[in-house]
Amino acid sequence: MKALVLSGGAGTRLRPFTHNSPKQLVPVAGKPVLLHALEAIAAAGITDVGIIVGDSGKAIAEAVGNASYLGISVEYIVQSEPRGLAHCVLIARDFLDADDFVMYLGDNIFVGGIGSAAAEFRRTRPAAHLVVTKVANPSQYGIAELDGAGRVTRLQEKPAHPNSDLAVTGAYFFTPEIHEAVRSIEPSGRGELEITDAVQFLIERRRTVTAQLFTGHWADTGTLGDLLECNRVLLEAIAPATHGLVDHRSQISGPVIVEAGAVVRRSTITGPAIIGAGSVIEDSRVGPFTSIGRGCQLRAADVEYSILLDDASVFDVSALAGSIIGKGGQVRRAHKDAAAHRLLIGDDSHVEVSA
Ligand code: TTP
Repeated sequence: MKALVLSGGAGTRLRPFTHNSPKQLVPVAGKPVLLHALEAIAAAGITDVGIIVGDSGKAIAEAVGNASYLGISVEYIVQSEPRGLAHCVLIARDFLDADDFVMYLGDNIFVGGIGSAAAEFRRTRPAAHLVVTKVANPSQYGIAELDGAGRVTRLQEKPAHPNSDLAVTGAYFFTPEIHEAVRSIEPSGRGELEITDAVQFLIERRRTVTAQLFTGHWADTGTLGDLLECNRVLLEAIAPATHGLVDHRSQISGPVIVEAGAVVRRSTITGPAIIGAGSVIEDSRVGPFTSIGRGCQLRAADVEYSILLDDASVFDVSALAGSIIGKGGQVRRAHKDAAAHRLLIGDDSHVEVSA
């Protein structure tokens, strides 16, 4: 079985972070989302991986590097514009050849991996095997309706009156029967070749489409809120380690990773948290549920439930929570005589001030 990882797309919902970097490279728990995906694929015993990339192919290839450390080989397939998930299968025809494959959305995270779904698909080999999860708000998802035997009878995109609460997640297992389906469907109202339509094509031709319930934490990291929540869940599973320097006036509690070259002075770090390589934390309180990137600087800062990308800094600011600070972003207390907030924020940024 091969894997087709979708790492193109527009990423409009994750602006401003996607203005200069693809969304699959936004770090969660200290690592780009895409690397979490590749690890899950490797752990499911899949070694032959094709990655669909758009304009950001170069950045993605740099971040993935030589993936042999994961025991996988990677090939890149360029999609000239985001024309839909089924379009990705269409252009990957040569790579996929006559093999079974999992199509994995590169901005999805399955905590605990996709190993059991892969095993079930390998055992039963239906035309399509979907991974579904229960959601509280089915009208916002692609929804699968199942019969008593676990066969999918219908897929509906964001139904106004849902008959099921099972959302289709970002891992789809297919036999080569999907190729006829993606060739046969027409673009949807939004101009994309929808994978939902391709699977529905299989269902209507009485091909076997099954679904398996994923009970672990699944996240589509498409929005900023999702990223923070996913960061929280993944941090809970980290193995604490101190490779950097923590002075004797600092306190560390709970699972905390202090990466090599990081320095923590006169500070309190409450895990789960990661302090990235080369970051300097002084007179600050960090955590819980906080990922500090590489080369960041915090001084007299109080940061929890947040993600700081590389080279970000926070000086003299207390009670920063639920925040994502982009690469090189700076947050600092205004001069004591300042009468107003002074903001220099990029396109499509979000800022909430308390007064
Ligand atoms: P989406 O989140 O559905 O689409 P998007 O990336 O365009 O995001 P937004 O809605 O915020 O603009 O995509 C799911 C995954 O599939 C994601 O990793 C991007 C990838 N993708 C492609 O590789 N090619 C495509 O044509 C599309 C639509 C998505």
